[in-house]
Amino acid sequence: MAPQDKIDVLILGSGGREHALLKACLRSPRVGKVRVAPGNGGMALEAECLEVDINSGAAVLDLVRRTGTQFVIVGPEVPLAHGVVDVLEAAGVKAYGPLQAGARLEASKAFSKDFLFRHKIPTAAAETFRSLEPALAYVRQQPVPIVIKASGLAAGKGVVIAMNHAEAEAALRDMMETKVFGSSGDEVVIEEFMQGEEASIMLMVCGEEYLMLPPSQDHKRVGEGDTGLNTGGMGAYAPTTVVTPEVERRLREEIIVPTLRGLKADGIDYRGTLYVGIMVTAIGPRVVEFNVRFGDPECQVLMPSLETDPVEIMEAIAAGNFRSASVRLRPGSTIIVVLAAGGYPGDIRKGDVITLPTQLPAGVDIVHGGTKRLPNGEVVTSGGRVLGVVAHGATLAEAAKKAYAVVPQIRFTGCHYRRDIGYRQLRRDGAV
Ligand code: AMP
Ligand code: GLY
Repeated sequence: MAPQDKIDVLILGSGGREHALLKACLRSPRVGKVRVAPGNGGMALEAECLEVDINSGAAVLDLVRRTGTQFVIVGPEVPLAHGVVDVLEAAGVKAYGPLQAGARLEASKAFSKDFLFRHKIPTAAAETFRSLEPALAYVRQQPVPIVIKASGLAAGKGVVIAMNHAEAEAALRDMMETKVFGSSGDEVVIEEFMQGEEASIMLMVCGEEYLMLPPSQDHKRVGEGDTGLNTGGMGAYAPTTVVTPEVERRLREEIIVPTLRGLKADGIDYRGTLYVGIMVTAIGPRVVEFNVRFGDPECQVLMPSLETDPVEIMEAIAAGNFRSASVRLRPGSTIIVVLAAGGYPGDIRKGDVITLPTQLPAGVDIVHGGTKRLPNGEVVTSGGRVLGVVAHGATLAEAAKKAYAVVPQIRFTGCHYRRDIGYRQLRRDGAV
């Protein structure tokens, strides 16, 4: 490809997901200059970081024009929900990520439940409420455990699995009376509890055409053996064989195809990532939730699984001419172990200096999340999920061994991580 064919890219976001997207751009023969907004301490070592309100379409468009950017990759859900891609597209700027209408699948759980029911896609039974008293009356009639969800965006924290009626009532009061999630709790979804094992299904969607990336599994609880509080995700791996060939067949037929057909029927031209959180239950795969962007930390293990240049895939999707048959995947397993700040997922320590290894073994990489680079060059903690160690191997056991050999070489006060990332798959593989 001639150098003049290269495109300048802008990535929006500041987490581990966006650092993984940056690394994919830096590997891409298609990409000339890549900039990030706002970025983090790791991204600052590899690309120009710019300050801008990424949730304002006008501000992002202005930055695109000032920098001569030709392609924008939107990392997180909030700019998508604010319609940043709508503003860019209207101005003729190509961007990867769904329009605001599609982003509602994540921005409103009430909307996504209604979508699932209307298109007869398997999911938990649910009722939506806009006022407290009817919600309380309903929940008292339901069996427990029961799931209470704030409908709006709540940074992954708006879900309570109530083990008894007192917990369910307390959760409803917190969301609808005390407003612990602000207006995100104006509407609440009360949902049947589904028993099973979860998997993260990441689709790169272009209308009814889609690429399914290898099924992955997140580890949401802070403690080993899935104990303690929920987090954004303490580690992930891919592929996971909880999605057996039979589960995959049903997933495609009963969930993915009807979802993409349903979006089209509803007049939504969906182009971008669609993250389908599923529960593999005794009666088959069922939808837990939709997200409209890559998972974090799932993205960090999925980008390296693509042999085809991810930027080319994103460009084809943005242009509306993607064909999944052209994509090649890389064999093997990839893992990420997340290193979190002291206190996470509660009040966190910030500003602790991070010591990083000077050299990494082959097949191992470090992805930054909540880090900041100081003017003196030091990298310090600045968020809950600080860094992740990503490793690739022929098997998950090999990948895990490589990652856990590097994890102790990263040091900062308060650092904690799970020692059991991938444990379900390692058991399935007979590796433990
Ligand atoms: P969500 O934000 O909807 O993905 O919910 C966060 C987490 O809560 C999920 O990843 C599941 O672990 C759990 N969860 C949500 N809904 C249900 C459900 N209906 N049954 C069982 N677990 C659920
Ligand atoms: N890791 C879960 C998420 O990104 O929502």
